Amino acid sequence: MTVKKGHLNGQVADNGTPYRAISSVWEGSDAELLDVMLTFYPSIKPSPILDATYNVGRIWRGSNRRVVSMDIDPKYNPDILADNRVMKGVRANRFGVVVYDPPHVGPQGRDKSVKRFDVDFGATVECGKQHGWTLSYLYPPFLQQAKRVLKPEGLLLAKITDMVNNHRSRWAHCDFMRMAEDAGFTVCDLIVKIRKGPMVSNRWKTAHHARKRHCFWIICRNGNSCERVQQSQLPLWGNC
Ligand SMILES: C[S@@+](CC[C@H](N)C(=O)[O-])C[C@H]1O[C@@H](n2cnc3c(N)ncnc32)[C@H](O)[C@@H]1O
Repeated sequence: MTVKKGHLNGQVADNGTPYRAISSVWEGSDAELLDVMLTFYPSIKPSPILDATYNVGRIWRGSNRRVVSMDIDPKYNPDILADNRVMKGVRANRFGVVVYDPPHVGPQGRDKSVKRFDVDFGATVECGKQHGWTLSYLYPPFLQQAKRVLKPEGLLLAKITDMVNNHRSRWAHCDFMRMAEDAGFTVCDLIVKIRKGPMVSNRWKTAHHARKRHCFWIICRNGNSCERVQQSQLPLWGNC
């Protein structure tokens, strides 16, 4: 995969080694960004990769990385048909990377019907009063499982979009970062990914908030280090 110019800033550091940084704002595709993140952040080999909310795998389009797919919905025919809050049958310490792109909005209020919009955005999960009008309740049990199935120092890459629900902004990315730290991850970085157009539903009649044309990719490490460390500095398990 070729990454477009401007997304990686190349310079030469004082000691003569090439200095490559990722821009904190990403205008390319998810697949390009995933490829860069999987080169830039890992302390250990970034494989195998588990995509815990695979759907049809749009975020991998154009990538040639091998991905183990998981989804709760059998119609997507995933490698592992499972609830990522349980991950039944998945052994501990198995993956170098877990990728998470959960539903961003849910069916709201008394409207229990499933619309095209809901299906496209995976928004078929309860998100009403009993859940505080957010989907953040999904995160803690998932994070516990992600930590269990990740190897030490493995990466969790999460695509999170904030939402407006029941007339209030709900800051899902803040919830996710706090909950990830509570679950024992180190939240290492945050990248703003720009969408070509905002998510729009024909159910929305009036606007009171800015239409979101971005989401966040949150980079978490299953360990205490915020920055990647050399494999030689890791205990022996880091090299397997
Ligand atoms: C926003 S979509 C993911 C889109 C996907 N990344 C892509 O590029 O095509 C969210 C997906 O998460 C799945 N999902 C929702 N809750 C889940 C759970 N508890 N366990 C596993 N998958 C879940 C949904 O079935 C849906 O396919």
